[in-house]
Amino acid sequence: MAMASFLAVFLLMELIAGGYRDGANGLSMNYYFFSCPSAEAIVRNTVTSALQSDPTLAAGLVRMHFHDCWIQGCDGSVLLDSTKDNTAEKESPGNQSVRGFELIDDVKEQLEKQCPGVVSCADIVAMAAREAVALSGGPVYDIPKGRKDGRRSKIEDTLNAPAPTFNASELVRVFGLRGFSAQDMVALSGGHTLGVARCLTFKNRLSDPADPTMDSYFSKTLSKTCSGGDDAEQTFDMTRNNFDNFYFQALQRKSGVLFSDQTLYNNPITKSIVKGYAMNQAKFFLDFQQAMVKMSLLDVKEGSQGEVRADCRKIN
Ligand code: HEM
Repeated sequence: MAMASFLAVFLLMELIAGGYRDGANGLSMNYYFFSCPSAEAIVRNTVTSALQSDPTLAAGLVRMHFHDCWIQGCDGSVLLDSTKDNTAEKESPGNQSVRGFELIDDVKEQLEKQCPGVVSCADIVAMAAREAVALSGGPVYDIPKGRKDGRRSKIEDTLNAPAPTFNASELVRVFGLRGFSAQDMVALSGGHTLGVARCLTFKNRLSDPADPTMDSYFSKTLSKTCSGGDDAEQTFDMTRNNFDNFYFQALQRKSGVLFSDQTLYNNPITKSIVKGYAMNQAKFFLDFQQAMVKMSLLDVKEGSQGEVRADCRKIN
């Protein structure tokens, strides 16, 4: 009897303190349950009010999380500013248009007042991306917390990022190297249901002869956008601030903005996944949330492998 009560209390404590452990050791859904109970609410409230004044920021936050995780793992490396001896990831061409740094600073400042030195910048980015998805109408899901912040951020590391010129086989290969299936990769590409791309990133598709995988009318739309210059923006689908499956429907109409988007409809393996998501938004949402949780655990640092930065732009 005493043993049974002990076991019950132990299990309860484990549930409360540890939460549901997922993937990486030491990370858990309830990581801040005791150490910073208001962490989730502070992130949620800050993202909610920021999106009320600028709904386009949702795209920025989702992209920031991807760029953070892909280089050096989800460790806040994308947030670090360059110093006189180091040129940070931020300066790379692929990161020039990443947005949302001020929002992360704002959350961090509030958290440092509430529970100094507890909530990592990497966790803030991951939570902010999750909130951005949910607030834009996408799936509502939880992610394990407990990532530590890294101390390295070098521009040269970003050379490993996937490029918009990659074809489906290359995308399957590079995502495969990081542990993602073709289905994960297509689902994650569905992040392009939010936001825009600048002409700079797709204008190569318009030069004579134009990319034949593109609808000819859509090619005119892209050319018109590019008449505004390299920084002119083209939305990935008709609803830039809504998380839906319109991105996949656009691919079916040969109206994907990037070469790396449209290519997903030109490869037999990825094409069937695109078709499935274009037809069934619930299936896309489910696969996207699973793939996002997986991405949020990419090469995370734990314990002494990292730190909790006091300022997300500087190592301690
Ligand atoms: C599959 C490989 C990927 C490639 C080649 C790629 C490439 C790009 C490019 C070139 C842009 C436009 C950037 C600019 O104009 O400066 C962009 C925007 C964006 N990407 Fe990706 N991306 C990929 C995967 C992802 C993933 C996995 C996510 C998130 C889950 C994501 C989320 C976004 C979002 C939300 C935007 C719009 C940002 C905004 O409007 O501020 N991308 N991506």
